[in-house]
Parts: sequence; C-alpha cells; structure tokens
Amino acid sequence: MSQIIRSRKTERTLLWVVLTIVAAIFAVFLYTFNPWTTQWRNHSSDWVQITSKKSIIHVGSNDSFATTQDGIMAGKLVLDFLENKQPDSGKAAIEIYNRIIPRENYGGEYSALQWFCEYLLAGEKDKQKYLSDKFVASFYDFFAEKNFARLKEYIKRKYKLETFADQDTQVGENRKAFLEDFILFNNPRREEWEKTSKVINSLNLKPGQSIADIGSGPGYYTFKFSQLVGKKGRIFAIDTVQKHLNYVNQLSQKYGINNVKTVKTGGDTIGLDANQVDLAFMCSLYHNIYGMSTDYDIDNFVNSIKNSLKKNGKLIVVDNGLVKDSELPYHGPYIAKELIIAQLKNYGFKFVKDYAFIPQRYVLVFQKI
Ligand SMILES: C[S@@+](CC[C@H](N)C(=O)[O-])C[C@H]1O[C@@H](n2cnc3c(N)ncnc32)[C@H](O)[C@@H]1O
Repeated sequence: MSQIIRSRKTERTLLWVVLTIVAAIFAVFLYTFNPWTTQWRNHSSDWVQITSKKSIIHVGSNDSFATTQDGIMAGKLVLDFLENKQPDSGKAAIEIYNRIIPRENYGGEYSALQWFCEYLLAGEKDKQKYLSDKFVASFYDFFAEKNFARLKEYIKRKYKLETFADQDTQVGENRKAFLEDFILFNNPRREEWEKTSKVINSLNLKPGQSIADIGSGPGYYTFKFSQLVGKKGRIFAIDTVQKHLNYVNQLSQKYGINNVKTVKTGGDTIGLDANQVDLAFMCSLYHNIYGMSTDYDIDNFVNSIKNSLKKNGKLIVVDNGLVKDSELPYHGPYIAKELIIAQLKNYGFKFVKDYAFIPQRYVLVFQKI
C-alpha cells in the first residue's frame, strides 16, 4: 500500500516537473518570437517611450526662449551695469540669475549674461583667468567692442528695451537671431552644462583627420577640432549664415590657424565633394532637418553627407532628448534620439553606439555603409 502511495507521489512530482519545463519553453518561445516583446527588448534603438503629454520633437526656439518678468528684470540690470557702471546692478542681476537659472525656460543666455557680470565685478587677477582661453577672450571682445555695443544691442532687442527701426522686419529678426545664436553657442559656461570636452573625447579624433562641422555657427566645435587634428588635418566649417563664417575666418586669421576652411551653403546640401572627410559632425542641427525639411530636402542633405564621407567614415549627431524640467541645463529644441537613429538607418547609416554625459544631451555615432 505504502509503495502505491509513493509511486503516485513520484508520478505527480514528475508531472509537475514536465509541466514546468513545458511552460518555461513556451515562455522563452513567446519572449523570443513574439513581435511585441521583441520590439520592447530593442526599444533602446527603435522604440520611443512616451511618458508625458510633451511632444517628442520640438524644433523652434520661439517658445522655448520666451522672455519672462524675471529675465527682463535681470536684462535691465545688466544693461544698467553696462551703461551706468553700477556694480550693484550687476550684483542684483547675478542674484536673479542664480534664482531663475534652475527653474526657467531659457536658452543659455542667462548663464552667459551672468558670466559677463561676474567678469566685470572681478578683480584684475581673476579677470585674466576668465579670459585665459583665447577663444573666450575673442568672444568677450566681440561683445565688448565699442563700449559693449553688441551686448547692449542684444539685451535691448531680446527684452524689447528699445525700439529698432528694423525690429518687425526679417532683417531685424535675423540680427536678433545672429546675436542670440552667438551668445548661446560660444557661451563661456557651455562646458559646464554640456561637458563639451567629454563629447569631444568620445570622438577619438586623430591627427591628420578631416572633419565636416555641419552647422558650425561661429566655430565653437570647429576650433576645438582644429587643435586636435593638427596641421595635417582639415576642418570644414559649414553653415548657411555668412556672418558666423566671417567670424570663423577672422579668428583663423588672428590666431594663424591654417587647417580650417569655411563653406557657405544654401542648406540643401553640405557643399563638399565626394570622399572628402573622415567624420561628419552635427551638433544641435538634426532636429531641424528632421522636423522642418521635406522628404526631398532630407534626401539631398543626408545623401550629400554620405557622399562627402570616405569609406567607413563616421557621422556624429549631437542633439537633445526630452527630459524632466528639473534635469534641464539648457532649454533648447529637442528630439527623441530614436527618431534620428531610425531615419539614418533608412539612409544607409549603421548605428554604432551612443553616449550621454548629461541627462539631456546625447551623442550618436553612425558609420557609412
Ligand atoms: C543650433 S546652431 C549650432 C551651432 C554649432 N553646431 C554649435 O553647436 O555650436 C545650428 C547652426 O546650423 C546652421 N544651419 C541651419 N540649417 C543649416 C543647414 N541646412 N546646413 C548647414 N547649416 C545650417 C545655423 O545657421 C546655425 O549656425
């Protein structure tokens, strides 16, 4: 009798073991071949997780760089400091920026304007430290020339503190955009929020390489690349705005830099010949190409990048993802990186890897195939 009970128990145990194995095999099968789970496992490259009502792409700067009461007040104080040499105004502006930088929607100009106030309030020795980098010194000179004429003009245009005859025209808009772009891209505090040096380290640049800096602006990255690729290397600073390129040419001349060549384009292609560069670099531009161009324009633009790259050449896209407001060091346009990865895959670029040195900004590495 006890033998019969024992063999029943063994049978039941065996049955459970078999059932468990079958269930496990079924689960593995489902996990491996079910398209839904497959997509989820791959979500880092072709899935965008939507967690809020916010758009996953934002291209314009119209609303992201909106002015606020506190921003206007700080701007007025900086202007008073510049015009009437009132140190208390500079100090009060710094205080306001300390308060609003962590919480407000701004494009980088606050930290740059705060930098000007701190520089002007510093003692002589510290002033030298502020300008020890020659490119920062040139940025300073650009705005300080003729008793801070350009900096005052920027503040007045930005915060509408004076009426300009051209302010409601395209010419006036372009002028304001140029001054704002200049202050944002060459902001001496950019390293602090962007960790620029880490971005550049991740590129593993070698002497002798040639690089297309697409949408170079006034050359923030161009000149850093130029130092790393050396005399035998070459940097093409490519932009649609001639004034940015003029500044790049002026600095190249001033500092005897011979490996930078500027290329003015209409924006439809990057304007280079075939097989010219080892690396194409695009910082804060692809969101615009993705969101604002027709299919025809994207075809031309991306194919011209591909054409300019040498065999196995790399394309680097640096842009901003959507993160929580509390993690934002810079409130510019943004685009989910998955959109770029998917689009460039379809243009025949292999996605190699990505980096992120701050929550918001990513570096995507692609290879021409
Ligand atoms: C946001 S800025 C970034 C500047 C620079 N890459 C940086 O990170 O400092 C974008 C730049 O791209 C330029 N740009 C816009 N559309 C372009 C196009 N289709 N081709 C080349 N440059 C373009 C703009 O004039 C501007 O200087």
